[in-house]
Amino acid sequence: MESLKDKIIMERLPEHIAVIMDGNGRWAKEKGKMRVFGHQHGVDAVRNTTEACAELGVKYLTLYAFSTENWNRSSFEVDALMSLLTNALKNELKTLNDNNIRLNAIGDLKRLPKLQYDALMYAIDNTKNNTRMTLTLCLSYSGRWELVQAVKNIATEAKNGTITPEQIDETLIGNHLATAGMPDPDLLIRTSGEERISNYLLWQIAYSELYFTTKYWPDFSKEDLYEAIINYQNRERRFGKTSEQIKK
Ligand code: IPE
Ligand code: IPE
Ligand code: MG
Repeated sequence: MESLKDKIIMERLPEHIAVIMDGNGRWAKEKGKMRVFGHQHGVDAVRNTTEACAELGVKYLTLYAFSTENWNRSSFEVDALMSLLTNALKNELKTLNDNNIRLNAIGDLKRLPKLQYDALMYAIDNTKNNTRMTLTLCLSYSGRWELVQAVKNIATEAKNGTITPEQIDETLIGNHLATAGMPDPDLLIRTSGEERISNYLLWQIAYSELYFTTKYWPDFSKEDLYEAIINYQNRERRFGKTSEQIKK
């Protein structure tokens, strides 16, 4: 039997996949377990998805791991998520290096506890020469937070005279975002059945293809990723043009 993976058109792979990893809590609740149990299993889905993307040749994988708004959860849950982060960084560092994957992180990282911040910086530095794929973790991240930072920096440069207001264009704004240097996501996947953006990559997803699946994140497998990519490949990205113009 032909596997899903064989149906993927390698010449038309999304260069950048972004994921809103959602549903850990509901996954655990359905099993009569604590929410944290869901987060623990969510780490396995991160590993599988990262591995699948690297194997296929996806160049950028960007994962929403902890939002600005997630700081409002109970301190018990926040603490558990933070310790999962340090454990994962420690346990997966060798695999990242063995697979030539560069780790990156965006968000208000200074808000992370020192232990997590230091572990993150260590892993980022340790993988900085890897070239196969960039894995970006969005931590203490939100799209509006990112836009506020960008506007502040642009305003400062305009005030200093480094730039003039006339020079502000889409490229300049893009270069002031945390994702500067990265292409915009081609495909945005959200698990768990919720169909919303939740303050994720607001500027960058202007023309991303959105894919929603009812699978909870801990159940998201390599096959589910292949399915999302095949679905993406069956769409026509028109960028405002007509279908006839695209086919020319
Ligand atoms: C996503 O799962 C993980 C994080 C937001 C950290 P949730 O924890 O949001 O799980 P649900 O949505 O409550 O099921
Ligand atoms: C979005 O999930 C943030 C992450 C996946 C890290 P949430 O579960 O926090 O989103 P909302 O608040 O339900 O929209
Ligand atoms: Mg959720």
